[in-house]
Amino acid sequence: MQVGIVRELSVFSFGRLMAAWNCTPTVYSQSMPQVVVEPVIRWAGSKRKLLPQLARYWRPEFKRYVEPFAGSACLFFRLHPECAVLGDINQELMLTYRQMKANVGAVITELAGLRKGKRIYLRLRRTDPNSLPPAARAARFLYLNRFCFNGLYRTNEAGQFNVPYSGRRCGNLPEPVELRAVARRLRRVTLVASDFEDVLRRVGPGDFVYMDPPFRVNGRRMFTQYDSTAFKHTDLFRLRRWMEALAKQRIPFLVSYAGSEEAQFLSDGFNTENLKVRRNIAGFTERRVLFDEVLISNITPGEDVSC
Ligand SMILES: C[S@@+](CC[C@H](N)C(=O)[O-])C[C@H]1O[C@@H](n2cnc3c(N)ncnc32)[C@H](O)[C@@H]1O
Repeated sequence: MQVGIVRELSVFSFGRLMAAWNCTPTVYSQSMPQVVVEPVIRWAGSKRKLLPQLARYWRPEFKRYVEPFAGSACLFFRLHPECAVLGDINQELMLTYRQMKANVGAVITELAGLRKGKRIYLRLRRTDPNSLPPAARAARFLYLNRFCFNGLYRTNEAGQFNVPYSGRRCGNLPEPVELRAVARRLRRVTLVASDFEDVLRRVGPGDFVYMDPPFRVNGRRMFTQYDSTAFKHTDLFRLRRWMEALAKQRIPFLVSYAGSEEAQFLSDGFNTENLKVRRNIAGFTERRVLFDEVLISNITPGEDVSC
């Protein structure tokens, strides 16, 4: 999983910077370097490998990008929309985004006081996040996320994070320059720590909605332990109802889902694309396996763009 890279591109965009003050479509001009910012958060189930295929569904005329199952929000960072809403039910994740947006200097200071190591990891893991001030809480999340096994977020029934340490293979903590770049990208993003329906209720004309829910596949549970963000059958029905509602309002959406009966249920009547993606099994083995992935949409994709 690649994280935390800030790359300078030879594309220039002063217009984009100016358009950052409102949500009007951007006219690009050739004066300032456009920076590609990648997520600083590792996330099991991240769609990083599918970015070129996913990005084909975005069109420049869309006014706002909406992602109710944000996770690491890798498509958001890749597309760099002028205006966005990111939501996720994971409160620690969303608190961290909020702190990076509003208080990045304090988060950087907190992280600077943390050295890489299993002992510190286990101490932070034991610490009740509610006992910490917000910036320290965000730093705790970033630290655990960076050094945990496979970017998993899993808690026990008491809500305590319980993913094992995997620090030796995870690189280093995000650099201040990366965190500041993420903070700039979040400046004009509305962050919603809630169920996806609360995000979808805000959607209107001009929006594009990307939905990447957790897999809920019959007979194939992705994690065998308790998982507070597991997607249930009822959630799948709620999602399908929203897809129909969005289609009725002619609001473009894209859903990515594991190839499965559930994906067939979700895709009935919509356009589908079947893809194969090679990924680590996000559980207890390091085996890399080819998975079927389905893209479901009420619009057709454009040309493949190299991301
Ligand atoms: C497959 S991950 C999204 C990964 C993301 N596309 C990325 O590239 O990193 C699914 C996300 O949905 C969130 N989630 C689970 N149930 C949810 C719900 N009912 N409402 C909103 N978010 C939910 C999880 O916390 C998780 O971050």
